[in-house]
Amino acid sequence: MEYSREALIEQVSGQMPDKRWKHTLGVMASSVELAHRYGADPARAETAAILHDVAKYWPVERMREVIEQNGLSAELLRYDKQLWHAEVGAYVAGHDYGIRDAEVLDAIRYHTSGRENMTLLDKIVCLADYIEPGRDFPGVNEIRRLAESSLEEGLVAGFDSTISLLLAKRRIVFPLTVLARNDLVRTLEDKQ
Ligand SMILES: [Fe+2]
Ligand SMILES: [Fe+2]
Repeated sequence: MEYSREALIEQVSGQMPDKRWKHTLGVMASSVELAHRYGADPARAETAAILHDVAKYWPVERMREVIEQNGLSAELLRYDKQLWHAEVGAYVAGHDYGIRDAEVLDAIRYHTSGRENMTLLDKIVCLADYIEPGRDFPGVNEIRRLAESSLEEGLVAGFDSTISLLLAKRRIVFPLTVLARNDLVRTLEDKQ
């Protein structure tokens, strides 16, 4: 079944606390803005944004079940649970909300980790998640500034802040994020 934009908003907003829905509204606004700025389809960017955190408040065991029972990335189960909602969210978007657009599903799937060869839509949703108006963390304004002229510069700064924080806390770094970050740095170096 396919949902209208309004029905999708109603369904998804009902699955999370107000605070997280407010964050989602911020990611929707930032995704649409970035889509206009960088030549993506604003409607597709917004759909990915509406659904990007749909599974964020699911119980961990329910997320594990979805991953295990549907042959999703088993590798992910070895890493921080905070990463699981992205993969599960993409599954839910396709399975429960009838999203067939593979690029929208990928933008949801990779919004936390990033990946190598990120698509325009991947970059937009991932960066919007860092810079939406409700975000407040050290360095966010610099990322916002970079996002005005380059998706890649903004994302490298975002991933660097995430990776630095993990290193400072002696936490495990998800390899895909390092690959995503290096790939973007390489792209920027090749442009010079
Ligand atoms: Fe998320
Ligand atoms: Fe988010």
